[in-house]
Amino acid sequence: MAIKHKITQATYVVTGASRGIGKAIAHNLAARGADLILISRDKKSLAATAAEIQAKHAGRAVATLSCDLADRKAIEKTCAEIKKKHRALAGIINNAGYARPGYFHELPADEFEKAISTDYLGAVHLTRGLHDLVIKGGLISFTSSVVGFMGVFGYSSYAGAKFALIGFAETLRQELFARGIQISVLCPPDTATPGYETENKTKPYETAALSESAKLMTAEAVAEKYIRGVTKGKFIINCNFESAMLYRLHGIWPSLVFSIMSGMIRKAQKKKSQ
Ligand SMILES: NC(=O)c1ccc[n+]([C@@H]2O[C@H](COP(=O)([O-])OP(=O)(O)OC[C@H]3O[C@@H](n4cnc5c(N)ncnc54)[C@H](OP(=O)(O)O)[C@@H]3O)[C@@H](O)[C@H]2O)c1
Repeated sequence: MAIKHKITQATYVVTGASRGIGKAIAHNLAARGADLILISRDKKSLAATAAEIQAKHAGRAVATLSCDLADRKAIEKTCAEIKKKHRALAGIINNAGYARPGYFHELPADEFEKAISTDYLGAVHLTRGLHDLVIKGGLISFTSSVVGFMGVFGYSSYAGAKFALIGFAETLRQELFARGIQISVLCPPDTATPGYETENKTKPYETAALSESAKLMTAEAVAEKYIRGVTKGKFIINCNFESAMLYRLHGIWPSLVFSIMSGMIRKAQKKKSQ
């Protein structure tokens, strides 16, 4: 029953494309012949990424649009600009996002709203604005996280937004199936990106201790897993053995995952208090 998206030479919109995982996905798509519209906020880094992609993959059309995806009006303007020039899209890759770890009781109220606006509503509004351009056999994807299917200490604001994305994607998968549009959700584990470096600055020590046991992936390896996943018609795309196992185990035995996680957290807390 799965729709298997084939990467085409038509145009893909990629958000959060100026660095990290989004940039690696954009490079990977360009290498397979796709044209691109790259979206993020900072114009300079967008232009630099577009130039880098064009230098590496001659002949590819790479447009850039600066847009704050936490701002609905700005998204509507961006969608209107895209619609002026494009009648069809091969895919919408909703990848932009960020994590601001911290203890729940220390995170400001605004942080919860900012996370939902950026990591969840940004993808919802962009998809609302552009889905009618996506061709039959096209792709709409979302970058959630391992923290999008299981809560992890320190990620209370982020988990809400990333869980919401999976629910939204599951619904779209049913509603857009008749139009032949594939819906996928990428769930990266810890990945070496500028965003991950920023995240590390505010991680509670328990969160850092949990991360220690996880293998850090490169953005390029995550992008390759993503492309392989979408071309196989996968809905949830896990990138390594550990996250695929966690996904399954959490689905069938969440209390066991909770026991393992809380054991690791207690161990970290004990170590710190010694
Ligand atoms: N790295 C990890 O360990 C990891 C793990 C799981 C999931 N993820 C998810 O993977 C995605 C990419 O993360 P990354 O690590 O590659 O992050 P990154 O290196 O910080 O890159 C984030 C990208 O998103 C853009 N962006 C951020 N906020 C935006 C906004 N409000 N409006 C428009 N663009 C915005 C950034 O550009 P501007 O700042 O110029 O806007 C940048 O292009 C995110 O959704 C993240 O939650 C990452």
